[in-house]
Amino acid sequence: MPINPPNLLSTARLQLRRPQAEYAPQVLHAYAQDSEVTRYLCWRPHQSLDDTLKAMEKRLQEWESGSEFPWFIFERSSDQLVGSITARMEGHRVNLGYVLSRSVWGQGYMTEAVVAVTSWAFSLPEIYRVWALCDVDNAASARVLEKVGMTREGTLRQFGVHPNISAKPRDCFSYAITRDEFVG
Ligand SMILES: CC(C)(COP(=O)(O)OP(=O)(O)OC[C@H]1O[C@@H](n2cnc3c(N)ncnc32)[C@H](O)[C@@H]1OP(=O)(O)O)[C@@H](O)C(=O)NCCC(=O)NCCS
Repeated sequence: MPINPPNLLSTARLQLRRPQAEYAPQVLHAYAQDSEVTRYLCWRPHQSLDDTLKAMEKRLQEWESGSEFPWFIFERSSDQLVGSITARMEGHRVNLGYVLSRSVWGQGYMTEAVVAVTSWAFSLPEIYRVWALCDVDNAASARVLEKVGMTREGTLRQFGVHPNISAKPRDCFSYAITRDEFVG
């Protein structure tokens, strides 16, 4: 059965919206060109709007194909685009990735977004596990995953290439929560 995710997920302070090409300039400005934001990510900061438009085209295709569902995060109070969160569909598992504009770090926004996407994932009867990876030095991301109730299941050694740090693969923590554990 094809999965039909909501175009809009709302939380107390955020709206998570389906990709649209017109978001590209906001994405570039909010976080994609920021080398501090991309430090622990698997992609390099965007140099121009063209980079962001290409990335956005990929997001649109992923949504259409059902392989991944990326939502763009808007702050409700300002209606500004402040980040994105992606659910990668892997059969009975969902893997999460996320990024937020530095201007709004530390307010609990990503924890709120991860809870919303995890709730949606577990609303699907076929999903039993939601999980995420983070660089062992990415303390803020690890903390988000702990705050949503995920368990650190282990360290995947030399697993993820984070090119903004080095070409050599980096150790990553693997976090997960199961359907039975999630309280929402
Ligand atoms: C990771 C990220 C999404 C967190 O978003 P956020 O909205 O600021 O997260 P929250 O406010 O919900 O929670 C962050 C937690 O980490 C803690 N934290 C932040 N920086 C920290 C650091 N350097 N060391 C330890 N804890 C840290 C905060 O205090 C907070 O915990 P608390 O609520 O117990 O005080 C954001 O920092 C980001 O976009 N980073 C760059 C992209 C990235 O690394 N994405 C994840 C890839 S795995």
